Amino acid sequence: MWGRAQGARAALVFLVFCASPQARAQTPAETGERLFEENCAGCHGERISNPNDLFDLKELRKDQRARFDKSVREGKGQMPAWEGTFTDEEFDGIWAYIRSVAD
Ligand code: HEC
Repeated sequence: MWGRAQGARAALVFLVFCASPQARAQTPAETGERLFEENCAGCHGERISNPNDLFDLKELRKDQRARFDKSVREGKGQMPAWEGTFTDEEFDGIWAYIRSVAD
């Protein structure tokens, strides 16, 4: 049997969970940021800081989406191919995130 204190605590935990950022819908750029930090930041740096002096993704211009798609999906040099790792929507999100930092 749950006492009132446990019940209240469970309700509080539930409320905190609902108010947390993960529980609300994310914009494409927010999804992209999460995916970038999890998958790309190891080489390209947190917030695309380019600590390893690779190609700086912030240099990609708005009209270079096709280049982004090709390099990222097929891989380039030391970078592995990401085709199949992400959905089209997730690629859109990563691009939106790069744009949000670069523009
Ligand atoms: C293992 C390290 C590594 C990871 C992880 C990595 N990259 Fe790269 N990336 C590189 C390297 C190295 C280059 C430079 C490739 C070259 O020009 O030879 C590069 C280049 C790029 C380029 C520019 C390619 C061009 O057209 O010149 C883009 C865009 C890019 N990465 C996006 C991403 C994204 C998005 C992710 C995460 C999904 C990612 N990278 C993860 C190493 C990595």
